[in-house]
Amino acid sequence: MHDHLGGLITDLKILIDKVFKKKSLQVNQITKIKNLVQNVNSSFKEKIIHIMDFTGFSEDFLGNLHAIILRRYVNAERRVTFDYCEEVNKILTSGNLFYIQNNLYLVIQEIVTNDLKYGTGLSAWKISRHKGDIRISLNSRTKALKKQDGAGFGKWSVRNKLLKINGKINQRTINGEFRTILTLPC
Ligand SMILES: Nc1ncnc2c1ncn2[C@@H]1O[C@H](COP(=O)(O)OP(=O)(O)OP(=O)(O)O)[C@@H](O)[C@H]1O
Ligand SMILES: [Mg+2]
Repeated sequence: MHDHLGGLITDLKILIDKVFKKKSLQVNQITKIKNLVQNVNSSFKEKIIHIMDFTGFSEDFLGNLHAIILRRYVNAERRVTFDYCEEVNKILTSGNLFYIQNNLYLVIQEIVTNDLKYGTGLSAWKISRHKGDIRISLNSRTKALKKQDGAGFGKWSVRNKLLKINGKINQRTINGEFRTILTLPC
């Protein structure tokens, strides 16, 4: 996200320098500048939200994650439950876990995005301890999917991030019931 914002600002600067040199402004350049400013604006907002999301993680990781998830489902007018135990919250909040928290947060954001895209009805999240691991599960229903659905970069990026924190993911749909299980060592 940071690189993206930096890239947009560089493109804008190059364009403005060009206009300054030529001392003239064409209509298509005005449109380009307007679009770039809009993109910088929304990328900046995204970044602020990301920073705000993070401020509470070092004090109460799952409490804050709960609030973030709730906000997204409420905005999408979807129902959600989010259950977790304090024991796991203590593990994920304690010490200097920034790297794990960051990757886990990004993984969960993508899983929420996919669920909002492809799921329907109530989404039930549960975070618990299971045989010495941390287990994060999501149960929801699947909408009728088109053939090309679900063939994007999200899954790939989720796997990549989980690899960095020794996590595993298992997803399957049985009779229209979609289930994700994330496992993290603790
Ligand atoms: N409720 C749900 N019902 C069905 N599939 C779901 C649900 N929630 C998440 N998924 C998963 O979302 C996956 C989407 O994969 P992926 O994120 O790679 O593609 P995309 O979202 O279509 O594209 P992109 O992430 O690049 O925008 C599906 O393959 C499926 O496993
Ligand atoms: Mg996706």
